[in-house]
Amino acid sequence: MKKITIAIDGFSSTGKSTVAKQLAKALGYVYVDSGAMYRAVALYAMQNGIISQGNFDVEKLVSDLESLRIHFKYNEDLGFAEMYLNGKNVEHEIRTLEVSQYVSQVAEISEVRRMLVLQQQQMGMEKGVVMDGRDIGTVVFPDAELKFFMTASAETRAKRRYKELLDRNENVSYEDVLKNVESRDLIDSTREDSPLMKAKDAIEIDNSNLSLEAQFEKLYALAQETIEKP
Ligand code: CDP
Repeated sequence: MKKITIAIDGFSSTGKSTVAKQLAKALGYVYVDSGAMYRAVALYAMQNGIISQGNFDVEKLVSDLESLRIHFKYNEDLGFAEMYLNGKNVEHEIRTLEVSQYVSQVAEISEVRRMLVLQQQQMGMEKGVVMDGRDIGTVVFPDAELKFFMTASAETRAKRRYKELLDRNENVSYEDVLKNVESRDLIDSTREDSPLMKAKDAIEIDNSNLSLEAQFEKLYALAQETIEKP
């Protein structure tokens, strides 16, 4: 059976990773969460005093990049790959609201993007991959056979993320989560290098009123169709 590349882009907390994981599992493909890689770099910057409120030493981050080791390791029990930063499992730490508050500033830096995009392209070299992010269909895999662009209202997205963070026992307010979603939308879509935008050939999916099952069925059917296309 032919293998394809599936790119899923969209605004923050649009449920990209949920549907990407489901698709990868159903197709026997590899799932790559590109956002986790940007989050890992942001965590490194936070832990090393490179970024904090009102301070961002871009030069230091760029000069440290070469020595950063960022990789995924598949966890059989969980059924997905976890993020490692310099040999340490940071899967939990990278998902906090604090990391979300710095990650978009880190993701604006071209040197950071260049390094991570290269790694992402290597992971997708053999196809059979579902990757989600902001620039997957536009920059990382412009030739992907199937591209989705996910949207939903900011309030719907903030509610989803708020619930996720509460489920993880994070002490956050809905207002702060909404503010973060809106500020990342703005930074991600207006930055100079690889801004978040819909690829011309991407299929737009507004999932504000779609159940997880309905969304999966829709994307899975489109994937099957693309795979079977001669
Ligand atoms: O899951 P969520 O929607 O909160 O975001 P994410 O996919 O974990 O991505 C976190 C941040 O990384 C985004 O807000 C972007 O600033 C950046 N990112 C990016 O610039 N390019 C990507 N391909 C993926 C993420």
